[in-house]
Amino acid sequence: MFRKKVIAGNWKMNKTATEAVALAKDIIGEVGRETSVDIVLCPPFTALAAVAHVLEGQAVKLGGQNMHPEKSGAYTGEVSAEMLRTLYVTHVILGHSERRTYCGETDAFINKKVLAALAHELKPILCVGETLAEREAGSTLAVVQRHVEGGLAGVKPEQITTVIIAYEPVWAIGTGKVATTAQAQEVHAFIRDLLTKLYGTTLAQKVRILYGGSMKPANAAELLAEKDIDGGLIGGASLEARSFIDLVKAADAAK
Ligand code: PGA
Repeated sequence: MFRKKVIAGNWKMNKTATEAVALAKDIIGEVGRETSVDIVLCPPFTALAAVAHVLEGQAVKLGGQNMHPEKSGAYTGEVSAEMLRTLYVTHVILGHSERRTYCGETDAFINKKVLAALAHELKPILCVGETLAEREAGSTLAVVQRHVEGGLAGVKPEQITTVIIAYEPVWAIGTGKVATTAQAQEVHAFIRDLLTKLYGTTLAQKVRILYGGSMKPANAAELLAEKDIDGGLIGGASLEARSFIDLVKAADAAK
């Protein structure tokens, strides 16, 4: 089954609008028209409009890092799916572990966002993954199952292939401690099996499952060669054009 690889840069709370434009320009200078890999840049909200302008006419896509499930209203500090759409945003990261940890986001709340994103034709990048304590307690697969099933509740078969899932073991995020390819592949295969139970083989084979957690050019080829690893959600290594471009090239080579 051919699944187009995805390389998504999660810039987190980094880059002013000016810095974001400079980084986006450096990236499109080399891979702007690359179509063999789906490339998504996710700058902070304050830089979306400026980066959208840079990406005009390019193949590179724009993503938000979060959104609120409601359409509008008294939700100070939040933005809606529609607001993102008007800035030419096509993807949105949902349920990132930093939001689960620091903002108390639950699977039920993340699920509302997934459904709202799909209703507005935004492609969710749903993040799932266990903490170190959960891994050490032997509950990795149970946690991942809860995150996947909770996040996808009510997602219809005709919508599932627009969802991207990112498996991000929390202990590997920003720590330099990458999961071994065997550890990552085990969880990716488990997620694929879960999707097969929920949606059947044909649809489950089409869903892209990304790995995230200290992925960089030096370890990407090995991870991307695994059967169920369809790309990467990249934090640290996406903040510098050279390493991000090298990751895109690694995904292209692994296709
Ligand atoms: P990292 O972050 O690549 O810096 O580990 C990945 C993520 O949190 O999406």
